[in-house]
Amino acid sequence: MTARKKVILDVDTGVDDALAIMLAVTSGELDILGITTVSGNVSLDQATLNTCKILELLGVSGQIPVCRGADKPLVRDSVFEHRVHGSDGIGGALTGMTVTKQPEAERAEDFIIRQVLAQPGEVTLIMTAPLTNLARALHKCPELTEHAAEVIVMGGVVQGFGNITPTAEYNMYVDPEAAKLVLAAGFPRLTLVGLDVTRKALLSADDIARLQNPVIRDYVEKSTADYRKRYWERNGVQACALHDPLAVGVALNRSFVTVRDYYVDVETRSDLCDGQTVCDFQNRLGRPANAGVCLEVDAPAFLECFINSLNSNSFNSLNQ
Ligand code: RIB
Ligand code: CA
Repeated sequence: MTARKKVILDVDTGVDDALAIMLAVTSGELDILGITTVSGNVSLDQATLNTCKILELLGVSGQIPVCRGADKPLVRDSVFEHRVHGSDGIGGALTGMTVTKQPEAERAEDFIIRQVLAQPGEVTLIMTAPLTNLARALHKCPELTEHAAEVIVMGGVVQGFGNITPTAEYNMYVDPEAAKLVLAAGFPRLTLVGLDVTRKALLSADDIARLQNPVIRDYVEKSTADYRKRYWERNGVQACALHDPLAVGVALNRSFVTVRDYYVDVETRSDLCDGQTVCDFQNRLGRPANAGVCLEVDAPAFLECFINSLNSNSFNSLNQ
């Protein structure tokens, strides 16, 4: 029995962050040391409440600590995304739920530092939100780069258009200063899971119908309904892009993606392109690669992993 991979999830629980948490928990292959929350899709308070709701829904709220992080980007104002994630951030799916789980007193950046330093070389950071918390942690503890096993970032787009401006992906756009700092910090193993691949990881109504646990199926159907509708209006496809779940997927099985090492930087001083991730494909800047950039994805294989995990036996008895 191989030891489960130790991970910390950093989330701005919105619709796809919630699905990422569900995949991480139901996979049974990850030792989730904790979940840190940050302002992004919704406010810090709402992201934290939503995260606690998902853990209670899965029946694991007593096993996974939640630590609150930044309530706004490093230097910019918040840019909430209620148009996509709904007023509560999870498509109104669990409005009636009463939550007993409370976040820890420990701040997100301190939790990240403490866990990584206590288990050097063992902890993978899975970042599915603006990178404010990790930037703050690096500011307090620059040697974090030497002791994190890997940083997997859902963010950016290197060969396509943005999803919040013509050039920028949302997580990078909300806090480009944090993203620039994280990419420049010198993590030896940083994987960028951008829209280039996450746009191909699409969850359809037919996929949702394959979920066997009625509690999980009803939640996924309800929480993604408006998201899928909006995706249709914007992209002509009735589906939910599994942006954040794919970052967890890469932690579970790196063979889902094709990765190439490049130097990547983030624009922070532009009227038009702030938050753009610029990938130096031709090494024109002559700088060493700082990221493993995901260029292709085996979407069917990842979708099977997602559905099979959420259907895993350990959760079939969940609150039925
Ligand atoms: O661009 C997609 C990313 O922005 C996802 O993490 C989504 O949750 C939003 O935060
Ligand atoms: Ca997110």
